[in-house]
Amino acid sequence: MLSCVYSAGISGIDGFLVTVECNCTRGLSSFEIVGLPDNAIKEAKERVRSASLNSGFGFPATKITVNLAPADIKKEGSAFDLAILMSLLQASDRMKNEFGRIDLSDCCFVGELSLSGDLRPVRGVLSMAIEAKRAGKKRLFVPYDNAKEASVVGDIEVYAVRSAREVADFLIGIHDIEKFTYTPDERELKVECPDFADVKGQARAKRAVEIAAAGGHNILLIGPPGTGKSMIAKRIPSILPEMSFEESIETTKVHSISGILPSDVSLIRTRPFRSPHHTMSAPSLVGGGRIPLPGEVSLANNGVLFLDEFPEFTKSVTEALRQPLEDGTITITRASGRIKYPCSFMLVCAMNPCRCGYYGHPTHECTCKESDIKKYMSRISGPLLDRIDIQIEVASLPYSELSQGAKAEESSSEIRKRVSKARKIALERFKNEKTDNGGAISCNAQMEARHIRTYCVLDDACKRLMERAYDNLGLSARGHDRILRLARTIADLAGSEHIQPMHLAEAIQLRTLDKSY
Ligand SMILES: Nc1ncnc2c1ncn2[C@@H]1O[C@H](COP(=O)(O)OP(=O)(O)OP(=O)(O)O)[C@@H](O)[C@H]1O
Ligand SMILES: [Mg+2]
Ligand SMILES: [Zn+2]
Repeated sequence: MLSCVYSAGISGIDGFLVTVECNCTRGLSSFEIVGLPDNAIKEAKERVRSASLNSGFGFPATKITVNLAPADIKKEGSAFDLAILMSLLQASDRMKNEFGRIDLSDCCFVGELSLSGDLRPVRGVLSMAIEAKRAGKKRLFVPYDNAKEASVVGDIEVYAVRSAREVADFLIGIHDIEKFTYTPDERELKVECPDFADVKGQARAKRAVEIAAAGGHNILLIGPPGTGKSMIAKRIPSILPEMSFEESIETTKVHSISGILPSDVSLIRTRPFRSPHHTMSAPSLVGGGRIPLPGEVSLANNGVLFLDEFPEFTKSVTEALRQPLEDGTITITRASGRIKYPCSFMLVCAMNPCRCGYYGHPTHECTCKESDIKKYMSRISGPLLDRIDIQIEVASLPYSELSQGAKAEESSSEIRKRVSKARKIALERFKNEKTDNGGAISCNAQMEARHIRTYCVLDDACKRLMERAYDNLGLSARGHDRILRLARTIADLAGSEHIQPMHLAEAIQLRTLDKSY
């Protein structure tokens, strides 16, 4: 007897429908699975056999062949277990008549089996649910802990199940499972990110961060220890524009595939803030592993990637960062094929001006040698620095500013209003523009040379100012374009159609490293 049920797999951040066929024929008792990598087959066989016996289904003493199609897409992981067991039950004599109550061709089964027959959560359920719906499936069976995530999709009945027995009993009709519906509560909708109201003083740094957020510019914060660099960086997601539903889905997919989506979260609504340690390896930054998982650059997609103590990261890591910064997507090549993950993020870096941290400090003496200071700074120079539009000093805070307990600092929501307004202006400006490789442009930082020529036109007063800066600061052509991009953002924040000298002057101030060191 031949049976056919459906499951779903993951390729990159998208799901694909998997057909699980099972054939039970008379003959020497055996159990074969085709369509999975060797090691995965061995493990799946053990789990399915044991789960079947421990759920009280027995195990047919026949020749069993299971086929997972399509064969040409690499299938990884353990999410097919439940579908394999259901196809086996349907194909074996014991259940085939009982399952008639429900049309299995409408159903999609996802979940890993434990040896006891309980269901364990799997990675990537959101992408699978989207695919099941697209393929016209009406019912989706998922492990209990994955149900919230699956329910985001809508228009497909989600059944949150705890064991294979529960699923079989439901299909036979001796047990009912309530459809899982979920409406996110207020708590989940609330943006969980610290607020800029906590940061005393540092007006210059805050202004720089606001400009960075408004234009999508990458930013480097330089300053002595304890001046609030990390504090400021952590608060950047709170002033970035709210995520659109599509962005939320994309971000949630990546986190789900990485297996780090908490089971009580259905959809990520706060822009991610990722802060990997400087001892991280290049693969954990860009993604990789036997089953290639998204790296930090992809987990930061639509949010912020914060590299604290920037010069401490190894060369291989900072090198690996270049391509994702450039393209907004990352392709991981494995023997098993190529996988693409999104990685469009705002890069925020922080560092001390020297190893001891106090170079240029007004009161604290720097104990570093002049040559060591140069060496320390040179670790961050080069092509990566070229992609960081804003470099700003975060000086130590005068006590008078820190102690102004009563004086209220501006809250993130106020700053965010201005950022969102500036972003809207940019979106409108670029609605018919494309980058050289065909991507849409959504913020000023993504402008290429020809867009700069069109949208950052300088009047005579601005030209004179630029000329002076160019000669006095020894700017490069690239630095020149960066300043124009920044000036465009500053003009947008001011609601000004044209770049004015004051906008340009402020932009020049945001390029600390062009001037010193
Ligand atoms: N501007 C500020 N307003 C309020 N508190 C501050 C400010 N700056 C620093 N602090 C306090 O000092 C602590 C350390 O700040 P933070 O970790 O941001 O410093 P940092 O600049 O990142 O230092 P390091 O270079 O050592 O990493 C904060 O947790 C906060 O309590
Ligand atoms: Mg810090
Ligand atoms: Zn020093």
